[in-house]
Amino acid sequence: MDSSRVNQSPLLSVRDLRVSFGAHEAVRGISFAIAPGETLGLVGESGSGKSATSLALMRLLPPVAHVQGSITLDRQDLLALDERAMRRLRGAGVAMVFQEPMTALNPVMTVGRQIAEALLAHAPRTSRREVRERVLAAMREVALPEPERRINDYPHQFSGGQRQRIVIAMAILNKPRLLIADEPTTALDVTVQAQILALLKRLREEHNLAMLFISHDLAVVSQVADRVAVMRHGEIVEQGAMLDVLTQPKHSYTRSLLASVPTMTTDRERPLATV
Ligand SMILES: Nc1ncnc2c1ncn2[C@@H]1O[C@H](COP(=O)(O)OP(=O)(O)OP(=O)(O)O)[C@@H](O)[C@H]1O
Ligand SMILES: [Mg+2]
Repeated sequence: MDSSRVNQSPLLSVRDLRVSFGAHEAVRGISFAIAPGETLGLVGESGSGKSATSLALMRLLPPVAHVQGSITLDRQDLLALDERAMRRLRGAGVAMVFQEPMTALNPVMTVGRQIAEALLAHAPRTSRREVRERVLAAMREVALPEPERRINDYPHQFSGGQRQRIVIAMAILNKPRLLIADEPTTALDVTVQAQILALLKRLREEHNLAMLFISHDLAVVSQVADRVAVMRHGEIVEQGAMLDVLTQPKHSYTRSLLASVPTMTTDRERPLATV
């Protein structure tokens, strides 16, 4: 953890965010901030409002959703931006990686073409040659094997972990300052999950990327987050430095989440040291 971040003004600031779907209040007035380069983990059980929160930040909720509160990124009020300005911000200012990479990929378009389109959406005048170079560089950056040979392959020709690498390559291509990762490793098996976490950590360091890392799994969150917010029934019941929350949880719900993480509480060989 880098204590110098504490003194920086936040990159993202969310105040009293509320999201409702008709009469159902999915998010009930939550507040949090993320400093430049910092990773905030958002953890909570299924249905607690994590994805509603992340989609509200990207302004990607369906029209039926009613959003209140304030969301500022670099002092820009996201809820006040028109759709055109918001499109410009998506990708270039804030980007998102979802749980299931296939939902973010077009199955009938080569991965090279898709990465190129993500680039051209924000830099339409890039020359053909430079587009190809930057696509290959992006594939290399996320450690996709043999980029020159695979650039014209389709998503289904890649493994699940490789597909998530492609999505991450597209997400960081336009150098966003904030990456929202909503359960980015949940669909992957444990080994691949660890590799994707390692990739996100490396990219975060290399690009000074701030991250909102969402998971229902506190053990996963504890591997990447500087701070953590614990969400339950649409509210943040507790937030603080990762280590403090792990070692001195204040809320009974956080304690129950900790209890369901066997390696942290019962494995005496590897107590909280895995953090
Ligand atoms: N488009 C929608 N229309 C109506 N209700 C919705 C919609 N999206 C989410 N909800 C409701 O909002 C609540 C929060 O859902 P959300 O997807 O944010 O949970 P989550 O914490 O991301 O859960 P999970 O861990 O399963 O992904 C749930 O009760 C859900 O049913
Ligand atoms: Mg979700």
